[in-house]
Amino acid sequence: MVGPPRSLLLPIIFTSIGVIILFSVYQSTHHIPGAEFTSSNNPIKTPIAQSTPQNFTFLIQVLAFNRLDSLSRCLNSLSAANYGGDTVHLHVHIDHFSLTNESINVIDQKLEESRKVLNFVDGFDWKFGNKFVHYRTNNVGLQAQWLEAWWPSSDHEFSFIVEDDLEVSPLFYKFVRGLIVNYYYNVSNFSPFIYGASLQRARFVPGKHGNKIRLDGETHLFLYQLVGTWGQILFPKPWKEFRLWYDLHKSKAIKPFLDGMVTNGWYKRIGERIWTPWFIKFVHSRGYFNIYTNFQLERALSVSHRDAGVNYGKTAGPDSQLLDGSSLDFNLLEMQPLSNLKWYDYCFREVLPGRVGRTLDEVGSILLTVQEDQSVLLVNIFGASDTITRNMLCHFERLNIRNYILIGPGSDFLFDLARSGHPMIDADQFFNYHRAQKVMGFQHSSAELMKNILVNAYVIKKCLENGYDSLIVDANMFFLSKVHEFIDPSGDFYTGKSLGFFFVRSSSSAQEIWADLLKKVAATNGNVLFQGESTNCVYLVKLLEQNGVRIHRVDEASIGFQIHAGTSNQIIFGSWEENGLLVCRHRCGFDSKAASRIEFVGCGR
Ligand SMILES: *[C@@H]1O[C@H](CO)[C@@H](O)[C@H](O)[C@H]1NC(C)=O
Ligand SMILES: *[C@@H]1O[C@H](CO)[C@@H](O)[C@H](O)[C@H]1NC(C)=O
Ligand SMILES: *[C@@H]1O[C@H](CO)[C@@H](O)[C@H](O)[C@H]1NC(C)=O
Repeated sequence: MVGPPRSLLLPIIFTSIGVIILFSVYQSTHHIPGAEFTSSNNPIKTPIAQSTPQNFTFLIQVLAFNRLDSLSRCLNSLSAANYGGDTVHLHVHIDHFSLTNESINVIDQKLEESRKVLNFVDGFDWKFGNKFVHYRTNNVGLQAQWLEAWWPSSDHEFSFIVEDDLEVSPLFYKFVRGLIVNYYYNVSNFSPFIYGASLQRARFVPGKHGNKIRLDGETHLFLYQLVGTWGQILFPKPWKEFRLWYDLHKSKAIKPFLDGMVTNGWYKRIGERIWTPWFIKFVHSRGYFNIYTNFQLERALSVSHRDAGVNYGKTAGPDSQLLDGSSLDFNLLEMQPLSNLKWYDYCFREVLPGRVGRTLDEVGSILLTVQEDQSVLLVNIFGASDTITRNMLCHFERLNIRNYILIGPGSDFLFDLARSGHPMIDADQFFNYHRAQKVMGFQHSSAELMKNILVNAYVIKKCLENGYDSLIVDANMFFLSKVHEFIDPSGDFYTGKSLGFFFVRSSSSAQEIWADLLKKVAATNGNVLFQGESTNCVYLVKLLEQNGVRIHRVDEASIGFQIHAGTSNQIIFGSWEENGLLVCRHRCGFDSKAASRIEFVGCGR
């Protein structure tokens, strides 16, 4: 009997209040994002945090050019800030006018402008620390002004980058100091994936189809991937890492394109005169975030007067209201624990980082946050290359599939994905935990295949208990579209003709069969029953059929296609062209040359 298709595996967008509430429950009983990486060997990811805030160096890097009035307003505001007795050094980087194609008259005028700026800076009294002036010999533009402004001399040195048309609040330093003490030096609030803090008001969403920025007034802080160029505090380690990443990409002529972003257009038009497309791409590929303030009433600790110059043809006026003592109606120094803050991606979609399932209970909490229409997609990435996995995530983003969980061995790569918001099950820890609990029958087996099968089998059991349908695939299986159109509602178990996927419908009959199956698997005591069978799907299908369970067959080519690991892009069934997938191939860049482009920001479209 073939009935009307039932809606399965539709994409999920995290807008539901329910999801957010569930996740707060989840978060409150779990590690804070990034915490599970603190034991990593990767030097970039080891924590700087110490239990007591210690002395740190704070540098203000002012980027100036030829706007004396702007610079004067900027330096005066910095000088009027309250530094509470701390030493703060001031570096002023003055760009030179362009030496090409200027007429003699213009040159005299420019020389005069430069002299005035230099005289002003020389005469400017900086009482809080040293003053350094860096006067260029030629025009380097904003990219080099930013990138060359700072090379951190230790992990305890912070820079505040200030373009000359900014004005800062007298309160800015007290607040920044609080941030550093709370989110850098307090271990329980530290995440190595926070690259700094923006003092400007968040106004812009670079994902082409992103959400509007909407925030309630409850928390004054949140995390957002986007860099803020109007008053950005940079943390030393991520900045150094960025500089090295930039070197590598720039010298190999790899462009900083990130599909789906407004900044691609900027880069095409303005190219190397700006630096933000580089930093934006870097942040995306590493999964970094920036701290932002949310003070309501368009208030911020740093405002841009958007004076005529490199960025603006004519003066546009202040972008926000400066928050100062007279308008302060809340406790500026109250800093929430990191685990209470919300994280937003380039689409201004809320990201739920750090969803790592190591036990059935943890998996249960994760299932609640991902399931859509009572269905969950379980993606096995055992043995898949990072490229294949990234390519698959790129396809999910393209198809707006958001109800997936990655299952694989706990690797740095997988933990990084979890931290950027991709939920995962750490198969090693899951297996070891439950073996120790004697929930799983095997005391002796270490066969990788049996481990994978066991983990999948128990996750499916959890899905069945929660009433969720589950679709199990390997990372090299790609969908053409939503799977629901291809599966009829008459049976409990489905697979493809080539056993490329395995589908279990939630029903009481399936639950019974599954419980029975688990007993049988446990009874094997870890022995592989079928030699030469390499995937979970194949194994589970064989095992069920051996026990007389009917499994329906569907033609995979109508659902998707599979890529052979190792042999670049061999297609087992279906073909890119036939299925109109050329777009995906270009956009998600399957071949290794384009590996750096397996990134796409779809914002749900
Ligand atoms: C911090 O600086 C003060 C004054 O310069 C110094 O006396 C103190 O030893 C420093 N503490 C640390 C932990 O470096
Ligand atoms: C200066 O000259 C270069 C090459 O001669 C040209 O490409 C550029 O557009 C000129 N710039 C201005 C501001 O006229
Ligand atoms: C560190 O942060 C935690 C959580 O916000 C807080 O309870 C604790 O008091 C902080 N420690 C210090 C030394 O400030």
